Amino acid sequence: MQKNVLITGASGFIGSFLVEEAIRKGYRVFAGIRASSSRQYLSDPSIHFLELDLMDSVAMQQTLQQTAEKYGAFDYVIHAAGITKSLHLSEFYDVNVASTQRLVNILQQQQLLKEKFVFISSLASYGPGVGNDPITALSVPNPITAYGRSKREAENLLYQTTDFPFLVINPTAVYGPRDKDFLFVLQAVQQKLELYVGSREQLLSFVHVADLVKAVFLSMESAHTRRNVLVSDLANYTTAEMNRIIKQQLGVSAIAVTVPTWIAVFAAVLSEAVGNLRGKVPLLNRERLKEFRASNWAATCTELENLGYRPAHTLDSGLADTIAWYRGKGLLK
Ligand SMILES: NC(=O)c1ccc[n+]([C@@H]2O[C@H](COP(=O)([O-])OP(=O)(O)OC[C@H]3O[C@@H](n4cnc5c(N)ncnc54)[C@H](OP(=O)(O)O)[C@@H]3O)[C@@H](O)[C@H]2O)c1
Repeated sequence: MQKNVLITGASGFIGSFLVEEAIRKGYRVFAGIRASSSRQYLSDPSIHFLELDLMDSVAMQQTLQQTAEKYGAFDYVIHAAGITKSLHLSEFYDVNVASTQRLVNILQQQQLLKEKFVFISSLASYGPGVGNDPITALSVPNPITAYGRSKREAENLLYQTTDFPFLVINPTAVYGPRDKDFLFVLQAVQQKLELYVGSREQLLSFVHVADLVKAVFLSMESAHTRRNVLVSDLANYTTAEMNRIIKQQLGVSAIAVTVPTWIAVFAAVLSEAVGNLRGKVPLLNRERLKEFRASNWAATCTELENLGYRPAHTLDSGLADTIAWYRGKGLLK
């Protein structure tokens, strides 16, 4: 029998790929979106759209109950809705924590979940690794941003919920077609600018969105519950290696510019002020800068490897694919 999966944040970068994979795997897919959400990447006619504003508990309960009455309870819920940047730090709590609590309460109290709730958290909920040791699922969390703390708080509330089967997925930096954040880095390098903040070399990890999506379904369909699953491409990179790969894939050379930390902070304050005036979250802000400056985002994904996860992409092949997509859309030369 066809299984039901609800995917929140279906209109987002990661959510839209989760929807495609769920359809490919034969699920009946319920895409949780808002009235204002874009449906640009949700064109498959088999998608059942559910208008779910996570801030509105009453409307959300009504929609989920009515859907379950018609199609049966949800076998799986993948909760990918969330915010990664905001002009107001309190918004991280409102959306990433309180909304997750609202959704979990409804699913539990109304008995709308059959198998598993999958929470798309982030490596940021752990904070950077200590020394040069990679972050593991068992690392002691020490998030350094409001975003990371909100994701950790949401994870904690899941662990405090009894009789509720869930998995927490902690992806590292995700890139791929449709993403807008990494485009900025690529555009800077194409302008022959290879930026470093501060003098320290960083350890980084990445995952192509197609591999993340495979990892989510592999974990979700496994017998594992009530644990964290870290997701990367199983490699770790230095900043210099990342830049070398970007330059190679773009076919350009660039000048390495090391921006002193105080200038980067000044630029972040300035871009926040402009962002506040325009009502738009700038890509460069002080919270983001904390992540840029942390020296170790290396990760080890033992849980996934034990499940047989083999990513299709390294950063080289993943960026080749992503750059080709950007070029096809005229976003890169
Ligand atoms: N991208 C990364 O590198 C990365 C890394 C680790 C973890 N993650 C996590 O992965 C998830 C998806 O990230 P993404 O990169 O795909 O972000 P995204 O493109 O910004 O998508 C976010 C999604 O959440 C929805 N959303 C936000 N607030 C909502 C609300 N109040 N009610 C209902 N829906 C709401 C958005 O809906 P609208 O379209 O209507 O705005 C959108 O569909 C997030 O939870 C993020 O923390 C991302």
